[in-house]
This record gives sequence, structure tokens and C-alpha cells, in this order.
Amino acid sequence: MGQAKIYYDSDADLGVLSNKKIVFLGFGNQGSAQAQNLRDSGIPNDQILIANRVDSYAETAKAKGFHVEHDFATAAEVADVLFILIPDQVQPRVFNEQFSPKLKSNATIVVASGYNVFFNLLKFQPGQDVVMVAPRMIGSSVRSLHEKGRGFPCFVSVEQNGTGKGLDAALALSCAIGATKQGAIASSVREETVMDLMAEQALWPNIIMMFREAFNVLKDAGCSDEALCYEMWMSKEPAEIFERAADDGFVAQLKHHSTVSQYGQLSGSLKLEGGAMREHFKDILYNQILSGKFCEAFSQIEDDLDKEGDTNPLNELYKRSEEMELVKAEKRVRARLAGLL
Ligand code: NAI
Repeated sequence: MGQAKIYYDSDADLGVLSNKKIVFLGFGNQGSAQAQNLRDSGIPNDQILIANRVDSYAETAKAKGFHVEHDFATAAEVADVLFILIPDQVQPRVFNEQFSPKLKSNATIVVASGYNVFFNLLKFQPGQDVVMVAPRMIGSSVRSLHEKGRGFPCFVSVEQNGTGKGLDAALALSCAIGATKQGAIASSVREETVMDLMAEQALWPNIIMMFREAFNVLKDAGCSDEALCYEMWMSKEPAEIFERAADDGFVAQLKHHSTVSQYGQLSGSLKLEGGAMREHFKDILYNQILSGKFCEAFSQIEDDLDKEGDTNPLNELYKRSEEMELVKAEKRVRARLAGLL
């Protein structure tokens, strides 16, 4: 759909945050990185409050000199800006029950992922701003890149413009956490959610399946477990290929491979027409993701994800995946090479 707008530091006015109380709900991967970046950008510590249940994350926040509030109702009442940075699956319960009823009617609410907003799982008041500032990096990189004076890729959007100044707030907050240094891409919760869920539910499952089947075929052809594990991923060759793809270009990185490899990869991929895969991807996008079917099914099992043992559906899936020959072989290889890896 054409070119996306890219926002830079010069598009942001940090002045719109002066005297605003900025509350971070959660001090985990993203919360700790974003709160520290924001403080380093000159927002006074007294304007920042970490809302966190009593746990080790709260202790870390205190150790780093932040003010911490355990009572969510109190934190909600004072928030002009609320960053929701707790795991996606617990956000609806915690936000809707403990924050939403107490939040100011003109508060700015910031999400770092589109899922709960896109599927209407969070309850907002009409006068509130709802913005997305979604780093495309894990929290430790959000922090370390900022410390090195560099930015990180990020998506930004205004989903509800209750005050009429949602974009000003979104850009100031993006700038304060260091996201406009490298350029923050204008996006939407829809775009962010479909891309994320498609990667998770279409692209990577197929990649896992392809590795599994390639492993099985090569093992049947007489290749050893040790050789296969190293050849296919333990050497980190795939990681290097993706690193090169990011630096040099998705196809241009092929030039680093041997001529035999370049010829094989290009001729092989161009021969695969991809029609069946395209239909499979469309089915997942339209009938599983955009239809809300996945979201509904996931909501049903959410509470079980905290359980121990086989009643936790994720544990059950891990157990089933251990039946894969690739996983069994890798375990044997790692046990044998323990200490050498
Ligand atoms: P996390 O798993 O690191 O969150 C831990 C924090 O959540 C802690 O402060 C903990 O006290 C709190 N918490 C956990 N369960 C809670 C509960 N039941 N009630 C109250 N507080 C609870 O979360 P993470 O990974 O930082 O994700 C936060 C948001 O950032 C999510 O929306 C996620 O999609 C998004 N995001 C995460 C990225 C990452 O690096 N993990 C990358 C980009 C976006």
C-alpha cells in the first residue's frame, strides 16, 4: 500500500511530556528498557512511576532508583500516560479490571504490540488516546542500542485520538524511549498484528516443518545426527544468512555463497511456483487470523497457560514436538558434545 511515513527525532516535541506522570505497567523485557531510556532522555525520575506487582521485577526497578507502586488503582489514578508492558495474555484482565476504571478520561495509553487493541480486548474511554509504540527488538537491544547512542526499528500509530493530540504524544514518547533516532515507521495495530501472527502461524511453522522433513529425508539417506545438526543449524549458518540478508539484501546475500550454492538456491526457488503455499497462507490470514478465530481459541486456553504439567497446553505441545526425530537426535548430539559446545 505505498510508502509508509517515517518519523524522526525532529518530528517529536518532548515538551508535550512536561509535568506529565508517566506510568509503566510492568518492568520486564520492554518495561525496564523503555523506562530507563525515557529517564536517560531527560524525563525527571519523579515523573516516572513503575506499577508492578510484588515480585523480582519490582525489586529490580527499585534497585535502579525508580519509584514503584504496587497498588494498581493508585498508579492508574495518577497516570497521564500509561505504558502497558506486561505479557499480552494478562493485559485484558489486569488493565480492564484494575486500571481502566481508575484512569483519567484523557489519559494516553501506550501498547507495544497490536494484538489486544486490534481484537478489541482492552476497554478504553472515548476521551483517551490509544497509541502503539512497538519496538521491533527485544528489550535488551532496545536498551543497549540506546546506550550506544543508536536507535532501534519501531512501529508507531495512533489508534484512538481522544484528545486530538494523540500523534504528538505518540511521537514524543517514541522519541523519549529512543525509537525515532533511527526512524519510527507509521503503522497500525492491524498491520503489526497480521504481520506478527502470520510470521508465528504461517511462516515459521512451515520453516520448522521444512527443517523437520529435510532432516528426516537426509537421515534416511544415511547422514549422521551430528553432521545434520551442525549442517542445518548448530553451526549458526542460518543465523549468519539472515544477518547478511538484513545487511546486504534478502537475495543479494547469496553472493557470499559458493557458485554451486547460488545456482542451486536461485534456480530451485524460481522453479517453485508457490501457488499452493500462497493459498495456505491466505487461509491462515483470512480464516484463522482476521476472522478472529485464533484470538477466540487462544482466549479459551489462556488461563491454562499458567498451569504446571500436561494440563498446560503449551507443555503438551512441547511434549509432542519431542517426538520429532530432529529433536531426539539433537538431544543425543548435545549430550554427547556437552562441554564442547
Ligand atoms: P515480560 O514478560 O517481560 O513482562 C514482565 C512484567 O510483567 C513484569 O514486570 C511482571 O511483574 C509483569 N507481570 C507478569 N504477569 C503479570 C500479572 N499477571 N499481573 C501483573 N503483572 C504481571 O513482558 P514483555 O516481553 O516486556 O512484553 C510486554 C509487551 O511488550 C507485550 O505487549 C509484548 O508483546 C511487547 N513486546 C515485547 C517484546 C520483547 O522483547 N519481549 C518486543 C516487542 C514488543
